[in-house]
Amino acid sequence: MVTLVLLLLLLVPLYFFFKKPAGLPPGPWGLPVVGKLPDTTVDICTQVNRLRKTHGDIILWRMGSRLHLFLCEYNVIKEALARLEFTDRPDYHTYNAFAEEGIRGILSGNGLPWRNIRRSSLRHLRDLGMGKTRLEESIHYEAKCLVKELRKTTDKVQPLSMCVVLAVYNVVNKMVADKRYEMDDPKGLEFVDKILTVNQKLQGPVFFFNVFPILVTLAPSFLKKKLGLYDLEEAAKFINDATSETVQEHKAKLDPSKPRDLIDHLLIDHQENDQDPSDNNEKLSIQATITELFLAGTETTSTTMKWSILYFIKHPDVQHKLHEEIDSVFPKGTLPYYHERNKLPYLEATMHEIHRIATMAPMAAAHVSSQDTYFHGYSIPKGTIIVPFLECCHNNPLVWENPDQFNPGRFLNPDGTFNTRREGFIAFGTGRRACVGENIARVEVFVLLVALLQNFTFTKVPGEVLSTEKDPKDIIINVPKQYNVIITERQ
Ligand code: HEM
Repeated sequence: MVTLVLLLLLLVPLYFFFKKPAGLPPGPWGLPVVGKLPDTTVDICTQVNRLRKTHGDIILWRMGSRLHLFLCEYNVIKEALARLEFTDRPDYHTYNAFAEEGIRGILSGNGLPWRNIRRSSLRHLRDLGMGKTRLEESIHYEAKCLVKELRKTTDKVQPLSMCVVLAVYNVVNKMVADKRYEMDDPKGLEFVDKILTVNQKLQGPVFFFNVFPILVTLAPSFLKKKLGLYDLEEAAKFINDATSETVQEHKAKLDPSKPRDLIDHLLIDHQENDQDPSDNNEKLSIQATITELFLAGTETTSTTMKWSILYFIKHPDVQHKLHEEIDSVFPKGTLPYYHERNKLPYLEATMHEIHRIATMAPMAAAHVSSQDTYFHGYSIPKGTIIVPFLECCHNNPLVWENPDQFNPGRFLNPDGTFNTRREGFIAFGTGRRACVGENIARVEVFVLLVALLQNFTFTKVPGEVLSTEKDPKDIIINVPKQYNVIITERQ
């Protein structure tokens, strides 16, 4: 009897301590301490879509020790990301792995340092040609180099060459560090391979350190190794060391009257603003920003190219229409500028459909609530992770008819022109943290696809099964499964 009373005395307060507080949005609460962990064998979008049937578009899911607020509808996401208190990034360990001395950059930073570096980076990127012909000329150059390199690989069965990734990386590298690699340069190929490796290490089980931050301190070494933490730290060190060296080289050769690239511009800003010369924070913030631009800008865009070719192989009819459209306005040897995209409405529609169906950044990048607040009548505690679930928006059957079907036509008006006002498309995020490189990415994909389609036909390897299924571990970037392709020169 005494044991029973003691047990009750212990359990009742524990029940109230761990019970889901009233007023929170609906969704899985799970067990004390561990919450409810996602099923790692099913992709997270499918799992959230199942919850959506009972809970609606705003779902609170306690994973580990963290509350995650999944926002699954276009207008809900737009409204949330316009809110100041949902602007910050969380203290995820995967972000910290890149932050030397805790200093973060443009993607993972917060507060005034983030606002300053975002504002000045955007201004300088525009001065350096973003949104202007100067950027396009550098993309034209990369497109020509890529076509030349791929020509060496025609009529063979092989995976898509890493040169596609290198061409994309070169565009960002030129603006950021005034450098580019030749398509067959082993150093360049090694570097882009590392960038892809970092992004892969960021996905998968290392995520547990984000939802159980205490594990970073308490987990034994074997567990950290098993969950991929050491691999991530090693890959982050490689990228950070390379970026640090690049920034040092720039500092040594800096001529404030002739800035060559983004690093020079940011260093000049630093010299002009620096009150205390021993303050290293701003320099580390430049370094972190450069690393994050390379990481955010390379895999997303090159993966868009990989999904594009995959869909061209799977849908030869779409590829054929693209060949016809491009040949009729920009025959081989004439590359378009982005402002001429209205001459290629079918290509524009196809690019949008690829962004929609593949959704490169399925959950954008996590935000966090910086204060206790209310959203749609629900109470949202400070520290809740805000997940703008772009992929769920892109496969919402109420907005997109047969969302699983690849259909560029959904972005066309009845007269064949591109439908610029298609609501519900949100591949680059929205609000204060919207993608900094949207313009670069759009122009890159447009020009590179025109150049490739002018010159080549991409076909499936007979007998090979092509899968467009998402990998359940891809929570940051949706990467297509490795596939082979046969590239044939067009006459
Ligand atoms: C197809 C290509 C791309 C896609 C789909 C994409 C998508 C996104 C998305 C969804 C976000 C998160 C928005 C949010 O947190 O609410 C983002 C952020 C960001 N992207 Fe991109 N992106 C692409 C290419 C690029 C490129 C080429 C660059 C740079 C050269 C870039 C730089 C960034 C940066 C720095 C951020 C963080 C902005 C901030 O936190 O203030 N992205 N991108």
